[in-house]
Amino acid sequence: MQQADFIWMNGELVRWEDAKVHVLTHALHYGSGVFEGIRAYETERGTAVFRHGDHLERLKRSAELYYMDLPYTLEKLREATHELIRVNKLRSCYIRPVAFRGYGEMGLFPLNAPVDVFIAVWPWGAYLGEEGQKHGIRCKVSSWRRMSAASFIPEAKACGQYLNSILAKVETAKAGYDEAILLDVHGNVSEGSGENIFVVRDGRISTPHSAASILDGITARSAVQIAADLGFEVEQRHIPRGELYLADEVFLTGTAAEIVPVREIDDHQLGPPGELTQAIQSRFFDAIKGKRDEYLEWLDFVELESETGRITAAARP
Ligand SMILES: Cc1ncc(COP(=O)(O)O)c(C=O)c1O
Repeated sequence: MQQADFIWMNGELVRWEDAKVHVLTHALHYGSGVFEGIRAYETERGTAVFRHGDHLERLKRSAELYYMDLPYTLEKLREATHELIRVNKLRSCYIRPVAFRGYGEMGLFPLNAPVDVFIAVWPWGAYLGEEGQKHGIRCKVSSWRRMSAASFIPEAKACGQYLNSILAKVETAKAGYDEAILLDVHGNVSEGSGENIFVVRDGRISTPHSAASILDGITARSAVQIAADLGFEVEQRHIPRGELYLADEVFLTGTAAEIVPVREIDDHQLGPPGELTQAIQSRFFDAIKGKRDEYLEWLDFVELESETGRITAAARP
């Protein structure tokens, strides 16, 4: 899938095809890594990374939750990402920083294995399809429950934890649906396999309680802010499964998926994208493209010239 020229690995820009790890990398065996999914968008003022600081803060928190010290400051990772976007000559892209236990020590005690970091960028279109983004997607509640806080740390965006999402995603994809919705272990609505969920009923917007094993999504936070600016308060509460079927509107939020209306859940028809979903979605798309001044603080603009004034030797043509 080569889609860019360079990847940033442990402080160096390396060619895409040379970005390799040893088979005895700790994270490959035990999932001992944390990551982020971030997007950069083309705006009239150049490329801008959406809520970059918030994503990097979450990366740091995820790492801390799994006893990992990031070997780079967040500012260093921010600059590295800017440089990577520049050298790959991308105007918009998906950004995937990963911090993981590397090669050096096997066994479940991870603290003696080194922490390696890479950042990859590549162009990535609408994760759930452009059709879905426009007309809505079909979802199915998975038989797999979202991991319990008794066994994992749902607040962490940790590599191994995604096996839970993968089981739900595969199950619902094989059943012919676009995306999975997971309940928590108590049967309350939790989230999509890689998205947060919002339910609209009688003009009220709700999203699952933070205790429903959700990831604190940055797109969800943006949707809550936009809803507030449109005059709607979002209530965080436990949502029973049946409310999904009774809802007037349901939408999913996530960096990869962005904001996606749901038109069908478990063969219950919700209909075409509703008014509130469309209003939030359209303001979100304006915000990421830098078209609304009130959300400009969400954008981290990538300077055309390297901020350090030099490009790492490996990156020269
Ligand atoms: C499990 C899960 N929930 C929710 C989200 C949405 O989070 P964000 O909007 O920060 O991308 C993601 C994506 O990162 C995710 O993987």
